[in-house]
Amino acid sequence: MAMNALHRRICRSDSWADRMHGTTLPWATRDVDLGGEVLEIGPGYGVTTRWLAPRAGALTAVEVDPVLAADLRTGLGPELGVDVRHGDGAALPFPDDSFDAVVCFTMLHHVPTPGEQDRLFGEAARVLRPGGTFAGIDSRATLRFRAIHVGDTMTLVDPATLPRRLGAAGLAGAATELGARSFRFRADRG
Ligand SMILES: C[S@@+](CC[C@H](N)C(=O)[O-])C[C@H]1O[C@@H](n2cnc3c(N)ncnc32)[C@H](O)[C@@H]1O
Repeated sequence: MAMNALHRRICRSDSWADRMHGTTLPWATRDVDLGGEVLEIGPGYGVTTRWLAPRAGALTAVEVDPVLAADLRTGLGPELGVDVRHGDGAALPFPDDSFDAVVCFTMLHHVPTPGEQDRLFGEAARVLRPGGTFAGIDSRATLRFRAIHVGDTMTLVDPATLPRRLGAAGLAGAATELGARSFRFRADRG
């Protein structure tokens, strides 16, 4: 995973967990039904997974970094009953129509190219059951955000064009909403 040392420290910090658990994740998921089978793409160190696990009917997480995936599989996975897989969100190892909700938090800008992001959107649509929801958040391009990402992958997602991209991936009713540092999105499998 291309994350510099500062970025890695932030993603494991108590202040990140407080912010995500206290405001960001409730905002990002406020109109998403998490009660069925949920897939999280890009759990990283598991801060978002820890919040999701008790709220999801059943939770599966797919992480592309083999070390992080292995750590989650032996730690947080058994602790919280999360099925952790090593894999790529742009080539998901699940059959069609497997999940009721697919979520990803602060990970889209870590996908190396817009083309791979579009493949990830297509995969989210494919593994969702009809009526299911794809939702999440990603970061806005503030100065602080750019500084944290020196030496990192930083493929910014433009919230203005995201609904069109999600529609092209086969999702319906896509919408985004801006927050101070991030934006949320959701779209449904028709
Ligand atoms: C900044 S971390 C965010 C982690 C967590 N969601 C959070 O908000 O604390 C982004 C994570 O997404 C993972 N990731 C990037 N591209 C991915 C892909 N194509 N499939 C699955 N995971 C991916 C990275 O390895 C990293 O662990």
